[in-house]
Amino acid sequence: MSSSKQKCPICGFQNDVSIYVTGQKARCQKCQILFEVKRSESFDGTIGQGEEGRKSEEHQGVQKETLIFSDIPQIPGYEIIGVIGKGGMGSVYKAKQLSLNRMVAIKVLKSEFASQKDFILRFNREAEVLARLSHPNIVPIIDKGAKDGLFYFVMEFIDGETLRHKLKNGRLRFDEAIKYTLQILRAISFAHKQNVIHRDLKPENVLIDTSGNVRIADFGLADIVGAQNDYSLTGSGMAMGTAHYMAPEQRRDAKRVDRRADIFSLGITLYEMLAGEVPQGNFKKICQLRGDVNPAIDLVIEKSIASKPQERYQSADEMTTAIRAAIAEVEKKTIAAGEKQESDELIEVKSISSVKENKKLKRYLLFGVVSSLIVLAVVLLLVWLLR
Ligand SMILES: Nc1ncnc2c1ncn2[C@@H]1O[C@H](COP(=O)(O)OP(=O)(O)O)[C@@H](O)[C@H]1O
Ligand SMILES: [Mg+2]
Repeated sequence: MSSSKQKCPICGFQNDVSIYVTGQKARCQKCQILFEVKRSESFDGTIGQGEEGRKSEEHQGVQKETLIFSDIPQIPGYEIIGVIGKGGMGSVYKAKQLSLNRMVAIKVLKSEFASQKDFILRFNREAEVLARLSHPNIVPIIDKGAKDGLFYFVMEFIDGETLRHKLKNGRLRFDEAIKYTLQILRAISFAHKQNVIHRDLKPENVLIDTSGNVRIADFGLADIVGAQNDYSLTGSGMAMGTAHYMAPEQRRDAKRVDRRADIFSLGITLYEMLAGEVPQGNFKKICQLRGDVNPAIDLVIEKSIASKPQERYQSADEMTTAIRAAIAEVEKKTIAAGEKQESDELIEVKSISSVKENKKLKRYLLFGVVSSLIVLAVVLLLVWLLR
């Protein structure tokens, strides 16, 4: 996680100013005085960045963008605090919602697109798709608006980082990767049931909050199955999705994909979480790369990223079942090896068995109470007879 520090001019305390831009006022965390932020680079906030943000980070020192206060959009009711992401269609800002005194994230359509009908329609549709998808693993939308030719929508601010950020330190722990995958699956299973296909699942669009919960973002390329119009922007020369994560049929014709394109992207993402890189060419199996992954997981990945959609899992729920079965396999093996792993899902498996044990306990208790009542009744009857 990168951060940018600035010394307080009064007490000298090093304040983290990574979410601010030049010209803004920040409050010193120690002496509470307001001071002016001076920064040479654009943004390096803890929550990850969109495509452009990553590019400028990758080329640090070569291509740094300076954001000054006048670049910041003025949106009534919100105080913009800093930039947290930049992508093809616009920027995402961290802001304070003044009426409720809470942090939010505001996505703003690039000004050069604000006069193009296709872009406005697609931007509005992203907001509408989010509004339709109220789910614990999907970023919640709060509001949408337009002011002086500026199109924006407001989301809950997810404090944390993107999966891309997490992967900067290399591959993830097995239990962590499985936990995120199962949560992404929950989100896309829900979206698919609402007839929404994400079409751009990749680590940049998976946010992970500080409690370790997944929130899927960026439904900018989402498709609503059966919708009459497709503002896919293919005609506008805009790439539809990101090559590595894109199913072969999506590369051929983005308009003709179905839910199985998301299964493909997730399979690639799962491989990347476990291998530290995306599968390319004659890629190695995960079990060849690390000792803590059962070959059953490789089978799940292989099936998710099959070239032909009909050879993949046909639904997110089917993929979830396969992963759970593969975890159960791992659990058996780890118990046999005497070293039990405590992944969230394994805990879930354990809690299912503890529910069963609880039921058994309740049955024993009921039996005990009933038999004590019968004994008591017999004793009372005897006492009454012997009076
Ligand atoms: N609700 C949010 N809370 C916090 N950060 C967010 C939120 N939404 C987006 N971001 C950040 O902004 C970046 C770009 O947002 P995204 O919706 O993916 O736009 P783009 O279409 O530009 O890729 C994300 O990768 C993430 O780092
Ligand atoms: Mg994105």
